[in-house]
Amino acid sequence: MEDQLRNLRTETLSLIGRLTDEKAVEEARVKVLGRKGDLTQFLRGLKDLPPDRRAALGQLANTIKAELEEEFDRILVEVRRNAEMRALAEDVVDVTLPGRRMMLGRRHILHRVAQDMIEIFRDLGFQLAEGPDVELDYYNFEALNIPRDHPARDMQDTFYFSDNVVLRTHTSPVETRVMEKQRPPVRIICPGKVYRRDADMTHSPMFMQVEGLWVDEGISFADLKGVLVAFVHEYFGAGVDLRFRPSFFPFTEPSAEVDIQCVICGGSGCRTCSNTGWLEILGSGMNDPEIYRFVDYDPERYTGFAFGIGIERVAMLKYGVPDIRTFYENDVRFLTQL
Ligand code: DAH
Repeated sequence: MEDQLRNLRTETLSLIGRLTDEKAVEEARVKVLGRKGDLTQFLRGLKDLPPDRRAALGQLANTIKAELEEEFDRILVEVRRNAEMRALAEDVVDVTLPGRRMMLGRRHILHRVAQDMIEIFRDLGFQLAEGPDVELDYYNFEALNIPRDHPARDMQDTFYFSDNVVLRTHTSPVETRVMEKQRPPVRIICPGKVYRRDADMTHSPMFMQVEGLWVDEGISFADLKGVLVAFVHEYFGAGVDLRFRPSFFPFTEPSAEVDIQCVICGGSGCRTCSNTGWLEILGSGMNDPEIYRFVDYDPERYTGFAFGIGIERVAMLKYGVPDIRTFYENDVRFLTQL
């Protein structure tokens, strides 16, 4: 029986030496080591032997089994590698094909624009502030001098959670929240999402603003203009045309809106700028003394200005995007271009 075992080993080793493809390796392995394989049968047969012979032969059989298993593993790796080399040699694998690139993620363009804007204002001495998206009617309207029946509310219709809780329509409520906690001088910048019932090429029901506020003794409209011109020239370049237009906000007096020449059409008029050649990017003004009443600031001593810049508008002008909605469609072909 021992000879039988040794023969099986020699035969199997010589068989393994002749194997050249994966399928044949698998078949040979089953023939010898499978459930009905030669070696498996042999091991089964041992149980009929007297114990002393069984032990000796069993040990030898197991050593041979381990050896053969290892040899089968080795030959499998070898035939696989050979097959690969053959494929390469036969040009089945085109090694000149470009590799597959991993797509790298990145921050959304609007967040990058917001960050760039904040950095400019930080250089001008503004500190970062924050406020909630879900806001009390009091901060969104009331404390900004927009009482319940005021027509200015029509332009900022929003989503109501209840009579007193809304999705904020602008970042201006953060002004009151900051002034409640801090005495002048106050110089803050606050980016965030805002919500309105509004949707077309240049309006989205959710959009982003950067709010700014500077209150101190002796702040004038010249400071407002200086800061905003400095921002526009720093961000868009010194040659960019902008204009201040008189406007109205219940919480500023006087008020101004700032437009930038439409880059989509170069100022000649197009759908994006409603044929005016200009695109509004922000509202601003000198704080109405009325809003200081809500935060207990002395209007005889302090003056200040505030502004709210539309981040999407700035991004549209900076990157030549004609339709605001493309920012939110999440089409990577668009987003990776910016
Ligand atoms: N909150 C205004 C809006 O969303 C913009 C604005 C105007 C902000 C004047 C201000 C400001 O801070 O002083 O249209």
